[in-house]
Amino acid sequence: MLARTRLGLAAARPGLAAPVVLVPTMGALHAGHRAPLRRAREMAGGHGSVVVSVFVNPLQFGPGEDLARYPRTLSEDIALCAQEGAALIFAPAPREMYPREQRVTVSPGPMGETLEGAFRPGFFGGVLTVVLKLFCMVRPDAAVFGEKDAQQLALIAAMAQDLDLGVQVVGVPTVRDSDGLAASSRNSYLSAPERATALRIPQALKAGERAASGGPGAVLRAATSVLAEAERAEPALRPDYLELVDPAGFEPVSPGYVGEALLLVAARVGATRLIDNMRVAIPPRPGD
Ligand code: PAF
Repeated sequence: MLARTRLGLAAARPGLAAPVVLVPTMGALHAGHRAPLRRAREMAGGHGSVVVSVFVNPLQFGPGEDLARYPRTLSEDIALCAQEGAALIFAPAPREMYPREQRVTVSPGPMGETLEGAFRPGFFGGVLTVVLKLFCMVRPDAAVFGEKDAQQLALIAAMAQDLDLGVQVVGVPTVRDSDGLAASSRNSYLSAPERATALRIPQALKAGERAASGGPGAVLRAATSVLAEAERAEPALRPDYLELVDPAGFEPVSPGYVGEALLLVAARVGATRLIDNMRVAIPPRPGD
């Protein structure tokens, strides 16, 4: 079933058997979206319902970003959602979501000011606002998001907890293409040579992960050296950041840190900006 309006959604909602599991997306669905859809289907069980929202949210795009050229492929998205057992697709037009200027928005707090928040001012406020609106409209029991957008996932989970939304927020591991590149709708922008350069992103993360026994400094040095090589490639990679953070607060870890950390990269190749991350377990080191 497809709902293009709030009224359509409101009419369909009472017919959705519980539990209702929402997968918020911006559409242009690809292999990477099948994992959250399948997870949602599992969580909904034999009787529950999966709802997929498809909405390219203008509130989370800054001036000069790719709002106009972001791929829009609704017919294909509907087919993929049907294959994955979704009961309802909610695909509103911008004026349905924002019938008037949005006066009140969600503030992401300090965890939203670093990394993506620093490079994309207003991004997390836009994401949290649309996700909160979707939660209010769809009233899901749970919602599933990809771990590729790790900081986004952490902020949505924090919003659900801090604002007592009563929605369980679940993350699913990043899906990678066979060459290692994290699946993303923005990969469709890449030319073949740009993609070859972009592959240095997961390679840098892997190099960092392999250096974990040497501690945070070694992780960052290993990943930096792969990125530095890619900065000399043609076309060149232009990193925005490479950080090793504590997954609870997205603060850079101290040199003596032990435990689970997240190695995060954002970088541009040509006109495309990509993000990726990898969990790195930092073991205790002799002498610590
Ligand atoms: O990750 C995305 O696709 C978007 O940021 C989301 C969560 C659907 C909000 O627009």
